[in-house]
Amino acid sequence: MASLLRSILAVTGLGLLLGSPWAGAADLLPDIPPAKARVSETQGCVEPTDVMRHNHMKFLLRHRDATLREGIRTKKYSLVECINCHVPDPDSPEAVHYGNPKHFCSSCHTYAAVRIDCFECHRDTPLPASRQAGSTTPHAGMADRSLTDNAAAALRRVSSLAEEK
Ligand code: HEC
Ligand code: HEC
Ligand code: HEC
Repeated sequence: MASLLRSILAVTGLGLLLGSPWAGAADLLPDIPPAKARVSETQGCVEPTDVMRHNHMKFLLRHRDATLREGIRTKKYSLVECINCHVPDPDSPEAVHYGNPKHFCSSCHTYAAVRIDCFECHRDTPLPASRQAGSTTPHAGMADRSLTDNAAAALRRVSSLAEEK
């Protein structure tokens, strides 16, 4: 029942997002913050914008599986890159976190009642400019850039236990 309700909300949400005829006043639409950059002059996002609206979750989940199972570390669908391009620096006056409807990912999710747990482990902001100086070991560096401090610490602890064996 809960999941049926969720699908209905998600579908209605999407309908409204896509400007369906039953979308009422314009102020009912979510206010999606603009990205900070474009992939190229001709294309805004890593795929055409309407493809991203419908399929971003598939790209993310597929890329997560490719990374965790096959060690594939390409940038195109990396969650770190989405956040870098779509979310302000956490040291800037525009800083926002997931849960705030002004955060890019929350702008639609709040509106369409979508729940995700990704940001319990992954950073919901870019790494602050003050912390971007390179780390020497590629793995620790990746975790530090992509995960929350707690999740990165847990991952380092697990990795060091694995090395001790
Ligand atoms: C319990 C912690 C946890 C949760 C929750 C979680 N992840 Fe991850 N995820 C990880 C770890 C750890 C890695 C590997 C970190 C690394 O080395 O980049 C990873 C890697 C990834 C990658 C590949 C690396 C990258 O930056 O692209 C993607 C994509 C990804 N996760 C997406 C998601 C999405 C989407 C969700 C929510 C649906 C999610 N994750 C929820 C821990 C988590
Ligand atoms: C180099 C910058 C850049 C990167 C990286 C990027 N995007 Fe985008 N994205 C854009 C631009 C530009 C648009 C077009 C809308 C705009 O101008 O803000 C867009 C649009 C979108 C939209 C549709 C928003 C709307 O207005 O309907 C979604 C959803 C989205 N991106 C998700 C993602 C996800 C998920 C990732 C990571 C896999 C990602 N983006 C990576 C720049 C980027
Ligand atoms: C243009 C609006 C929009 C934006 C912006 C957006 N999402 Fe979504 N997202 C949705 C909608 C609507 C759904 C639910 C679709 C469904 O259930 O069929 C969804 C679903 C998801 C899911 C799958 C949840 C599940 O359990 O099925 C993930 C993961 C996700 N989004 C991640 C992100 C991330 C990360 C960002 C920011 C980088 C983001 N989204 C930005 C509209 C958006």
